Amino acid sequence: MSLTSTVYLLSLASYTHLCTAVDESIFSSPPEHFSLSSKPVAVADSACNCFVTNGSDTAYFAHHGFYDFRSLSQYQGTPALIADAGGTSNAPITSGYFNLTSFTSFWQPQNWNANVSNGSPVLRLNSLNNIYIEKNTDAANTSATWLTLRTARQSTFQSTAEIATQNLTYQFLSMRMLARTIGSPGGCMGMFTYRAPAPGSSDKVQEVDLEVLTMYPRDHVQCTNQPSLDSEGSLIEAATQNVTLPDGLGWDDWAVYRLDWTPHQSIWYVNGQQIANISFQTPRDPTSIHINAWSNGSKWTGSMAPNTEAHLQIQWWEVLYNATATDAATPSVTADDGNGGHSGSCNAVCSIDVDGPPGQAMLLSSSANGGSSGDVGSSKNGGPGGPRPMSLGWQLTALFVVLYAVFFS
Ligand SMILES: *[C@@H]1O[C@H](CO)[C@@H](O)[C@H](O)[C@H]1NC(C)=O
Ligand SMILES: *[C@@H]1O[C@H](CO)[C@@H](O)[C@H](O)[C@H]1NC(C)=O
Ligand SMILES: *[C@@H]1O[C@H](CO)[C@@H](O)[C@H](O)[C@H]1NC(C)=O
Ligand SMILES: *[C@@H]1O[C@H](CO)[C@@H](O)[C@H](O)[C@H]1NC(C)=O
Ligand SMILES: *[C@@H]1O[C@H](CO)[C@@H](O)[C@H](O)[C@H]1NC(C)=O
Ligand SMILES: *[C@@H]1O[C@H](CO)[C@@H](O)[C@H](O)[C@H]1NC(C)=O
Ligand SMILES: *[C@@H]1O[C@H](CO)[C@@H](O)[C@H](O)[C@H]1NC(C)=O
Ligand SMILES: *[C@@H]1O[C@H](CO)[C@@H](O)[C@H](O)[C@H]1NC(C)=O
Ligand SMILES: *[C@@H]1O[C@H](CO)[C@@H](O)[C@H](O)[C@H]1NC(C)=O
Repeated sequence: MSLTSTVYLLSLASYTHLCTAVDESIFSSPPEHFSLSSKPVAVADSACNCFVTNGSDTAYFAHHGFYDFRSLSQYQGTPALIADAGGTSNAPITSGYFNLTSFTSFWQPQNWNANVSNGSPVLRLNSLNNIYIEKNTDAANTSATWLTLRTARQSTFQSTAEIATQNLTYQFLSMRMLARTIGSPGGCMGMFTYRAPAPGSSDKVQEVDLEVLTMYPRDHVQCTNQPSLDSEGSLIEAATQNVTLPDGLGWDDWAVYRLDWTPHQSIWYVNGQQIANISFQTPRDPTSIHINAWSNGSKWTGSMAPNTEAHLQIQWWEVLYNATATDAATPSVTADDGNGGHSGSCNAVCSIDVDGPPGQAMLLSSSANGGSSGDVGSSKNGGPGGPRPMSLGWQLTALFVVLYAVFFS
């Protein structure tokens, strides 16, 4: 057989494969190839078997949570700072909102304290008095209210705020908040996952952080897979990125901050644009979720001048997550393809990344038999590892090889 006929036969085989690949993709329609010509449909969370994220490390999650602080005028009120340490530590909740089961079943306002220690010169007192629903006083207001977490330097201590989840069962998530930070230098506003080392173990903390440090220029934020300091207190370069916000944004502008923790890495986005990704010491184990406003006068946060304050203001907070607790709403996703994707049992795939109001699940695809919507893309099987159509580049290469073979044979 001549060389050219061999090439011709090979290219025919390649062309056949091309057709097969295209046909397979039409018949099995993997979820990331949703029929984009059909419009996503707004549905209740209960109509979704799973939620898929967009971005550079797409993942599937069983659960969706949404906290909306935009229309809570009946709960609004800014409490005066409490000057003494005892009153700060023992303050009650600031409004009935924080008594609602919808809040307390998920979140727990914190009032622990952290004593002065080596590297931490200021006593830190978390107070329920620093967690409140605030009236929106912006000239161009897009909401009636927001949630504020406040930190303030008092004469003998730093008054701080933190909310943490009741459960320590979150294992991989994508969380987002429409938020901004205002105030004086020396404060740290954080959205993070946290798992303490087991007592007495030599394990390290497992933690993914988004931190707005008010001593930074307004266009910089810090993204970290903790720990970021070694035993000598030096920065571990691979663990943390000090990044610029996109589009000339400052942390004092409203923006959607997003933190994705997947089995492979942590990725940070602002208004949908990736700002950082770190795969070094990505947490593995189930964790809790925290949002806070604090300082301890350390080198990391800086020190706030007496009688200054910084606030984290949040209009809404949203999360997609998997949990180790099986008694949270039962997921219909039953198997893992080992690649952060899902198997065929997620029949109704939803998204919070397509046009729709914040917090609204949008149905992208549902199975042909049993799907609740007829005009969305249909998917039977397959996952992120499913067949893909051959790219245009490869099609042209195959075509060229065929023409070459025909011409020279
Ligand atoms: C919250 O609930 C507790 C217990 O029922 C009650 O004592 C307290 O007054 C409530 N606080 C507010 C601000 O509604
Ligand atoms: C902080 O120090 C005080 C006084 O020494 C002590 O009573 C308290 O238990 C300490 N708190 C913590 C959290 O270590
Ligand atoms: C103060 O903050 C720094 C930086 O996060 C941390 O290393 C240190 O342990 C903190 N100290 C206390 C007592 O929380
Ligand atoms: C903006 O504030 C005004 C005055 O408080 C209020 O009447 C209006 O409803 C607010 N807008 C929104 C979107 O909540
Ligand atoms: C991060 O960058 C900002 C702006 O250059 C700088 O002020 C800050 O000190 C940096 N932080 C760290 C930990 O290097
Ligand atoms: C992902 O969705 C967000 C909205 O959640 C959007 O802002 C962003 O542009 C989308 N990214 C891509 C790559 O489509
Ligand atoms: C993560 O960041 C590295 C550089 O730090 C880059 O090479 C890689 O492509 C990034 N991965 C993703 C998924 O963005
Ligand atoms: C938290 O755990 C409890 C008990 O396991 C469970 O009933 C609840 O659904 C969990 N909540 C979330 C938000 O996962
Ligand atoms: C979430 O759980 C589902 C069901 O087990 C699984 O298919 C999916 O890959 C998980 N997502 C991540 C990011 O691990």
